Amino acid sequence: MDSKRDMPRHIAIIMDGNGRWAKERGLLRTQGHLEGVKRVDEIVEASSKMGLKALTLYTFSTENWTRPEDEVSMLMQTLVTVLEQKLRKLHDNGVRFRVCGSRDGAPKFVLHTFDKAAEYTKDNTGLTLNIAFNYGGRQEILDAVRGIAQEVKAGSLEPSAINENVFSDHLYTKGLPDPDLLIRTSGELRISNFLLWQLSYAEFYFTEKYWPDFTPAELEKAIGDYQRRERRFGSIRTVSGGGA
Ligand code: IPE
Ligand code: IPE
Ligand code: MG
Repeated sequence: MDSKRDMPRHIAIIMDGNGRWAKERGLLRTQGHLEGVKRVDEIVEASSKMGLKALTLYTFSTENWTRPEDEVSMLMQTLVTVLEQKLRKLHDNGVRFRVCGSRDGAPKFVLHTFDKAAEYTKDNTGLTLNIAFNYGGRQEILDAVRGIAQEVKAGSLEPSAINENVFSDHLYTKGLPDPDLLIRTSGELRISNFLLWQLSYAEFYFTEKYWPDFTPAELEKAIGDYQRRERRFGSIRTVSGGGA
């Protein structure tokens, strides 16, 4: 990473491989999640220090409800406990916490903790930590379409006025720039229903490392890789980001 070169403004991460990390060590999957939580803390701190504007972390998808009940409840409990423990530190570092996902079907105690954290940090101007929870890209698009349809029906929006900006403003990520860089750990080469609209021109970085092995040094490596890319956005020369 070269801090003098173009830095991504927004990084999105699919934190994958906790289960395999644990299995390879003869541990329980839940122990993999607990190790993964330590990396979350380090990656958030590193992102904040390097002046990143936004970091979106995929913590739980709309499809993850199909996992065994004890794993799901462990993940819910861990999210709440860790956020309560770290909230003060996040706030002191100027981090603004927000959530990205559907409220439908999400446990009340989790939403309550998230709402409190978002309210507590809402005026912070440092890193925006965007937690994708009960998140599904298709669900998000459907929710946006429903919101837009209601405004059209109420007469407050003309169909001809629906453009990319209007659409983006109806997504959970309203107000955030699109991710410049998507990172997925654990060697899987797919996006698993993550940020379908927002990733249209993101640079993708895949690593074999499991999430519990993804240290801040690995993040810097990914950013260094991003900085060597040439982003063209359909044009024939570099427009912005990467290359330079
Ligand atoms: C990512 O690790 C964490 C969540 C999806 C919550 P996994 O739990 O998917 O780990 P693997 O992919 O089974 O190794
Ligand atoms: C994506 O990982 C979701 C999160 C990291 C929260 P999964 O492990 O659920 O994705 P698939 O099932 O391998 O596509
Ligand atoms: Mg996985």
